[in-house]
Amino acid sequence: MIQRFCFGTMVPTDTVVQSITPAEGPVPLLTPDGDGWLYRMAPTDVVYGLGETLRGINKRGWHYTSFCSDDPNHTEDKVSLYGAHNFFVVDGGQGHRFGVFVDFGGRVDYDIGYTRTDTLRFAVAEPNYDLYLITGETVPEICTQFRRLVGRSYIPPRWAFGLGQSRWGYKNAEDIRAVVRGYRENHLPLDAVYLDIDYMQDYADFTVNPQRFPDLAALAKELKAQGIRLVPIIDAGIKKDEANPVCREGLEKGYYCTKEDGTPFVGAVWPGEAYFADFLRPEVRRWFGRQYKVLLDAGVEGFWNDMNEPAIFYTPEHLAQVIDAIGSFKGRKMDLEDYFSFKNLSGSLSNSMQDYASFYHEVKGQKVRHDRIHNLYGYNMTRAASEAFAELRPNHRTLIFSRASCIGAHRYGGIWLGDNNAWWSHLLQNLRQMPGVQMSGFLFSGADLSGFGCDTTPDLVLRWLEFGIFTPLMRNHSALGTRNQEYYRFPEHLDAIRRMLRLRYALLPYLYSEFVKAALSDGMYFRPLAFDYPEDPQASQVEDQLLLGEGLMVAPVTTQNATGRYVYLPEGMKMLRLRSVEDYDSCLLPAGHHYLPCGLNEVLLFIRPGHILPVASPADCTDQLDTEHLTLWHYLPDGPASYRMYTDDGLTTDYDRPEHWRILQCDGE
Ligand code: GLC
Repeated sequence: MIQRFCFGTMVPTDTVVQSITPAEGPVPLLTPDGDGWLYRMAPTDVVYGLGETLRGINKRGWHYTSFCSDDPNHTEDKVSLYGAHNFFVVDGGQGHRFGVFVDFGGRVDYDIGYTRTDTLRFAVAEPNYDLYLITGETVPEICTQFRRLVGRSYIPPRWAFGLGQSRWGYKNAEDIRAVVRGYRENHLPLDAVYLDIDYMQDYADFTVNPQRFPDLAALAKELKAQGIRLVPIIDAGIKKDEANPVCREGLEKGYYCTKEDGTPFVGAVWPGEAYFADFLRPEVRRWFGRQYKVLLDAGVEGFWNDMNEPAIFYTPEHLAQVIDAIGSFKGRKMDLEDYFSFKNLSGSLSNSMQDYASFYHEVKGQKVRHDRIHNLYGYNMTRAASEAFAELRPNHRTLIFSRASCIGAHRYGGIWLGDNNAWWSHLLQNLRQMPGVQMSGFLFSGADLSGFGCDTTPDLVLRWLEFGIFTPLMRNHSALGTRNQEYYRFPEHLDAIRRMLRLRYALLPYLYSEFVKAALSDGMYFRPLAFDYPEDPQASQVEDQLLLGEGLMVAPVTTQNATGRYVYLPEGMKMLRLRSVEDYDSCLLPAGHHYLPCGLNEVLLFIRPGHILPVASPADCTDQLDTEHLTLWHYLPDGPASYRMYTDDGLTTDYDRPEHWRILQCDGE
């Protein structure tokens, strides 16, 4: 059951798609507490959700803030990342399970047993929001009710489930061709190469640098012939350059966010000073979305939207203040306090609350200050793109995923988890973030494999890939100046990497089918163990394994130099220890804790009883995948079973027609 409680006058977020009559009277389960709400947790209560946040699958013991933040240092002390996902579920066992969704576009703070172990408290920045309380028998059922409330998740084209290679620093068409050669010559599968900001002219959106990429359409065509798509980045800030027709048109039509005095707001990002389209207005979304056409016309079929929290390095006004303040130190004798204020001045420039409170949107005719609806910005940039794709490429799926998001955006695109580091802890963090983002509807999601920042190591590349082959978005991406980390760069592990990549492609009939099923049924592709084994108290303790689709469990090794790991099995399963799709050993394991050896070139995969897994022959790209000749892996201790496999064309949007799936039968052992 879903109950809706309305407070004040909310700025519309367009997140909820079901119309629910507001309830009268007190909110059950929660106690009002000043600007927020309280819930007393029992010692064994587990809290799931809050989307793209740090720390555990169980969110207890820390505090979190929903405020889309461009912060590349994902350390444990942080409270916000790029997404703002206001949905969580308290699992207090049978009869004590409920979900909460705060429908609000501004800041929301959560204290999940941080101040007091037994107290969950959340507070909304202003008294204008809708609160939804969702009760149900099981956690998955609560999550599904929630997802029905906010609408069906985005389904990308099937090629987006292939490997993508990305790097900030591919400067020209030759660099891109070299990457493709590196993959093809080493017989490594590949479906996409990403273009970072260097493809643009002076980092201006919707331009292509003619020296570096003299003929993007020809390049797109040449790569497509090899089964590879180009996926360019689009940034939120539009370069301030009156000579640029897009920039000029936005100015003439008054499409940018404005300052208090009504003049366009300017903030600096990659292109230098930039304007920010007011994506909250439908006509602006339409205008911005239609700009993607220039790249679509060149044969591009996918994009990633970046810097859309929006990230602001500085504003000219704030910069001038800081320069003045720094100047005031000249000739002064500094004490320690002065020194620290001096030191912090330049650091205060980026993504500052002062700047976020200095510009305005127009929402349904009303002038609204940015910080009040900050979390809706990236969401509406993705929506702008997606709404335009529906017009420009009707009935076709276009790949789109974003850095910033809030719930609602899950209907329009996927997300990636931003600028992680090449740290082992971030491999584990990647796993732990998946259930939260999936609960919020972002099924198409994944992290920068091998790590974005810092120099990676060959063993981390391989171990991260051994988890990455299971994430819907599988993209290797790295920052300018870091060690090159394309998969062909590690000769010592090349064979193992090739086997793992080919394994991903072989598993695609299952992975893709489970993804589509999760989207069409408002379910989850990745789930914590306790979602399916609610009566098992051990299951909720597991923070480094996930259920994947109906029949699998994954348990990656996330520790450097480890040659195995402990795995918890809530029931007996068949374990496959895979070196490749052709080379593996398997055994049946009873429920309980097991120490399982797992060499650097191996991955552990668990088939749950009663389940079938269709496996294809590996291919160099998804377009070449043969889904006719399949091998069925299975664990059927209780006799025959069937599997529904999705065989849609992977390109058009009519995925839910019954002719798009096939039932595979298997008699068992
Ligand atoms: C941001 C993005 C990153 C990208 C970089 C340059 O840091 O998160 O993925 O490579 O900008 O565009």
